[in-house]
Amino acid sequence: MILSRRRFLMSAASAPLALPVSACMSADGAPPPPTLRERADRAGLLFGTAIGPSVDTDAAYRAAVIRDCNALVCEYEMKWDHIAPTPRGRAFEAADRRLAFAKRHAMEMRGHTLVWHGATPRWLGQEATRATARRILEAHISETVGRYRGRIHSWDVVNEAIHPEDGESRGLRRTPLLGLIGPDYIETAFRAAAEADPGARLVYNDYGLSAPWGEARRRAALDLLERLLARGVPIHGVGIQCHLDLKPGSFDPETVHRFGHAVAAMGLDLLVTELDVADQHGPADEAERDTQVATIYGAFLDAVLATPRLVGILTWGLSDRHTWLARERPRSDRLPVRPLLYDRRMRPKAAWFAVAAALDRAGRKGV
Ligand code: G3I
Repeated sequence: MILSRRRFLMSAASAPLALPVSACMSADGAPPPPTLRERADRAGLLFGTAIGPSVDTDAAYRAAVIRDCNALVCEYEMKWDHIAPTPRGRAFEAADRRLAFAKRHAMEMRGHTLVWHGATPRWLGQEATRATARRILEAHISETVGRYRGRIHSWDVVNEAIHPEDGESRGLRRTPLLGLIGPDYIETAFRAAAEADPGARLVYNDYGLSAPWGEARRRAALDLLERLLARGVPIHGVGIQCHLDLKPGSFDPETVHRFGHAVAAMGLDLLVTELDVADQHGPADEAERDTQVATIYGAFLDAVLATPRLVGILTWGLSDRHTWLARERPRSDRLPVRPLLYDRRMRPKAAWFAVAAALDRAGRKGV
């Protein structure tokens, strides 16, 4: 049954899960119009996803990315360990290719990420000393941000610098750069990025900041941001990763609301940078699990879309075919995970319709 556009919109807007997904697909398996990109454009928001080699190798996946996204980010190919595999070797080809793909399809490109303990080159420990580390960091940022000057919507300059469990001062994460340079490695990174591209929006990115379980992280992050802003450090936004799941308390609207307002009160924008909903703890039944995942997507988007300075939402992948969660958070029953908007056959899932309906609601409210 192929729905008329009007009838589809009426149903999706009111009860996104009211229709079985299969009833809403066009003959080629693509979801019906408007696309997520059209809905995000109408709401004045970025909507997109993280990409990698699968946009080169998987035509159906590539088509969905082109259809639904007005913004992209590299899942790993723009990270320090990938672009600098050796102290003097550089491997920008993949990142260049992803940026060209985004620009070919009139999409914004986010830069992820200049500084992250999870992607610091292995050679840094051997190459850097306390005397040289700052210069090495500045050179990396200057080269990378300078290479893409004027073409990156916003940079995740520093990712995950907070980790109160490490017991470091001010809740900072114990990382090689903290040991080599000290806490002001963060200020150094933002200033180097601003100097290399004065027009780029500079973002601090982290996880758990809008989660009910993240109070200590949230306090430490807001404290860090206040200190940096007080020193005149160029920071323009906060990225919240939002790797949600089906466990009770994965998120609550009130915490999202409070954090969004706290960030706006600092004069900072908010971006959802890595949204997905891990279903490893969900029921085995796929239809039931899809409904639970979709409900989280819809409720979370309604909460974050109501915050004052949301710039956009990027998911961490678009299809269950290509998700880091299959590797990192598999189900104990070994059933394939289903955390994203399209299934492994590239059919739009209930989560796709929940995101579509949330974007429509935001568009009607003139977000
Ligand atoms: O594809 C290559 C393969 O050709 C090569 O043979 C192999 C050998 O190293 O590497 C493969 O690439 C790996 C890639 O995942 C595959 O998707 C990279 O090594 C590996 O580092 C990369 O891991 C990424 C990880 O960050 C570390 O960069 C994940 O894809 C990516 O999903 C994950 O994303 C992070 C965010 O950046 C920060 N927030 C958490 C999030 C999840 O961990």
